[in-house]
Amino acid sequence: MPQTWLITGCSSGFGELFVRKLRAAGDNVIATGRSADVKLAHLKDTGASILDLDVSMPFEVIKAKIEEAWSLYPGGIDVVVNNAGYILSGALEALTTQEIEDAMRTNFFGPFHVTQAVLPMMRAKGKGTLCYVSSQAGWRGDPSATGYCSTKFALEAMVECLSKELAFMAPGIKVLLVEPGYFGTRAFRNVNFTARDKHTPEYAQFHAGAKAHIASTIDNEPGDPGKAVDRMIELVNGTGMAAGKTVPLRVPLGSDGWDIVKTKCEETLKICEEWEDVARSTDVKPPA
Ligand SMILES: NC(=O)c1ccc[n+]([C@@H]2O[C@H](COP(=O)([O-])OP(=O)(O)OC[C@H]3O[C@@H](n4cnc5c(N)ncnc54)[C@H](OP(=O)(O)O)[C@@H]3O)[C@@H](O)[C@H]2O)c1
Repeated sequence: MPQTWLITGCSSGFGELFVRKLRAAGDNVIATGRSADVKLAHLKDTGASILDLDVSMPFEVIKAKIEEAWSLYPGGIDVVVNNAGYILSGALEALTTQEIEDAMRTNFFGPFHVTQAVLPMMRAKGKGTLCYVSSQAGWRGDPSATGYCSTKFALEAMVECLSKELAFMAPGIKVLLVEPGYFGTRAFRNVNFTARDKHTPEYAQFHAGAKAHIASTIDNEPGDPGKAVDRMIELVNGTGMAAGKTVPLRVPLGSDGWDIVKTKCEETLKICEEWEDVARSTDVKPPA
């Protein structure tokens, strides 16, 4: 029985791979993206339904699009993959409010609005999967990455809260956060650099370093995007490497992503152990 998937951000990278792999497996796919007529034209011959969806649009626009998408196949939508996103690079001191709001609008409010739009129908159906493409950047902050990490940390918090709400509101709906390390999609080619670096000359060298780091990452990403999408599909379907396992809320992908998550956990655990007495000392009734 084919499932129906809606994927955001399908012009390239993980989104495009999802469309091609799912269609090859015989699933129904609603491939969405900005300027879909042009940017998703290369996906028409996959047989996917193509829907114009800029996830940074206001909620009412997104709601209408998701309702349209829901009616495309009998039974509505089974899986939503919130994939659309981009990297904003620049020192915190240089970023404009507009730049970081724009990044939040796509990387955080996009999935937030898509989720709000689809949930009433998915809850009524009683089952489905909401998948979110987060990042190792949802665990670790890095220099020049405020405009990206903040969006992914916020996404992680939103989805964790959602998963706990749905555990009693709609236990048939699965929620999944995947956290890739560096993968060879167009992500690093599509980085938005703050336009304000010219106004912060003290950061000239810093920004040049960040740009050089990103340039040197392109074509040297350790992760294979096709393998990542295979794993994501398996995690959703409970097949392949996920067969017979209870899939947790968060799954890192890529050795680099895994290292970052593990190191962050170990560092945090060490802090909790070393500073336990300070933490406990502030209770109304401190330990005897
Ligand atoms: N590649 C990595 O190393 C990596 C690691 C961790 C997480 N991720 C995450 O993976 C997701 C997919 O990125 P990717 O690596 O596949 O990079 P990509 O090849 O650059 O794809 C990003 C996709 O998001 C779309 N997009 C951007 N803003 C949008 C908007 N407002 N509305 C709709 N679509 C929009 C882009 O469409 P346009 O062509 O219109 O710009 C493109 O289709 C992102 O959320 C990214 O943060 C990637």
